[in-house]
Amino acid sequence: MTNPQDDQDPQAPDHAPDTPPPGCPAHAARLYGPEFRRHPAQTYQRIRRDSGQVAPVLLEGDIDAWFVLGYRETRHVLSDTDTFGRDPRRWNGWDGVPPDWPLMPWVAYSPMMTFTEGDEHRRRSTAASEALATVDPFVLRGHCERFADQLIDKFTPNGRADLVYDYIYSVPALATAELFGLSEDEAGLGALAQGLTVSFLSDEEAIAGQQRVAAYVAELVKAKREAPGPDLTSQFVLNTPELTEEQQTADVMVLMAAALPLTSYWIGNTLRLMLTDERFAMTLSGNRRSIGEAMNEVLWADSPLQNLIGRYATRDTSLGGRRIRAGDLVVLGLAAANADPLLWPDTPVGHAGNHSHVAFSGGEYGCPVGGPETARIIAETAIEVLLDRVPDLTLAVEPEELSWVDSFWYRCLDSLPVTFSPTSVTAG
Ligand code: HEM
Repeated sequence: MTNPQDDQDPQAPDHAPDTPPPGCPAHAARLYGPEFRRHPAQTYQRIRRDSGQVAPVLLEGDIDAWFVLGYRETRHVLSDTDTFGRDPRRWNGWDGVPPDWPLMPWVAYSPMMTFTEGDEHRRRSTAASEALATVDPFVLRGHCERFADQLIDKFTPNGRADLVYDYIYSVPALATAELFGLSEDEAGLGALAQGLTVSFLSDEEAIAGQQRVAAYVAELVKAKREAPGPDLTSQFVLNTPELTEEQQTADVMVLMAAALPLTSYWIGNTLRLMLTDERFAMTLSGNRRSIGEAMNEVLWADSPLQNLIGRYATRDTSLGGRRIRAGDLVVLGLAAANADPLLWPDTPVGHAGNHSHVAFSGGEYGCPVGGPETARIIAETAIEVLLDRVPDLTLAVEPEELSWVDSFWYRCLDSLPVTFSPTSVTAG
């Protein structure tokens, strides 16, 4: 099979106006703007062609960074944690960053586990995994089936739905409420999901979105410290008596920020693939086998987290033939690395059964043990129940009309309109 991101968009100009002349060190490609937004895969392809597997790029606001597109180079950065640290206070570029920089919420230092290194990181990541290990997969699956059925009951009489608004966020939001011990109050959950989503957008809303989520999670952690319950938040708090309330709040926010939006986008991108690609055609008889394959294909071809900030060089080093200086910011292009043509020579072999993608990052600092499995249970159940209940789901627009949210980090749809035969039969 050929690399899924290789198919050139005939509309995409061969050389966009912002493309630097090949090899010119004074110009770096922009990882923002309309061209990047519309055609990220083509942008990565062009950067790789012009500048190689590790390229100088400009982030929103023309901030300099190194962009790692090579799979081998990405694996190297992920595994060499001595040379590539995570504490953003190491960054030598802070002087040029404006206070309202849209990427600020998840890059500026705060007491989150995501910015810790070494033993401190190991303790906090292990505490997260131990909390996730208390989740009973059968119980979680049962809850997700119930949430999925309730949501489907609401839209099946209409014969049409926008799955992004009516389903894709809602199943993980309700699962998050169940897992983290939140109330299932729709307004509160909607605000949480919305805050988490906008905190990753490439606009001025991002900072305010993250602040709203932080306030919400702070209340939750405070309550669970006083009266623990049978939930992940309480379990994490109990597992980390050495952390301050502020640190626990920051870590629970990281857990939620990963669990809710990323699992939603995994569902959305898989449904899009199944609705648009005949290899995964949604037939009642075929869907069981296809769902797992489609979910894996998405982790290669449309990974929910496409770019990751990041790592900071702890010393002068070289990577992919580039000289990296101590304190330089290294952005991990997870989607670009998964599409590396060196990894995908033109062979008839597809992604089936191959789980060596970097959609969950990897190495010591990657998505912690328990994260991917929890997300898989939620996503797979949501997709299975939908296809069981609404087997004649059809995309209501042409596949090219689907548009993607403007985010440097995420790969997620703006909307996913579908039609189907209306029915008033409910799950109950
Ligand atoms: C229930 C679902 C999930 C949970 C609880 C979870 C939890 C976490 C946590 C706590 C971290 C921070 C790790 C650290 O700083 O050491 C993290 C990082 C990450 N997660 Fe997950 N996650 C979930 C789902 C996902 C999904 C669906 C994806 C993408 C397909 C994903 C991809 C990542 C990536 C790329 C990182 C960044 C790691 C790095 O910095 O290298 N996660 N996750």
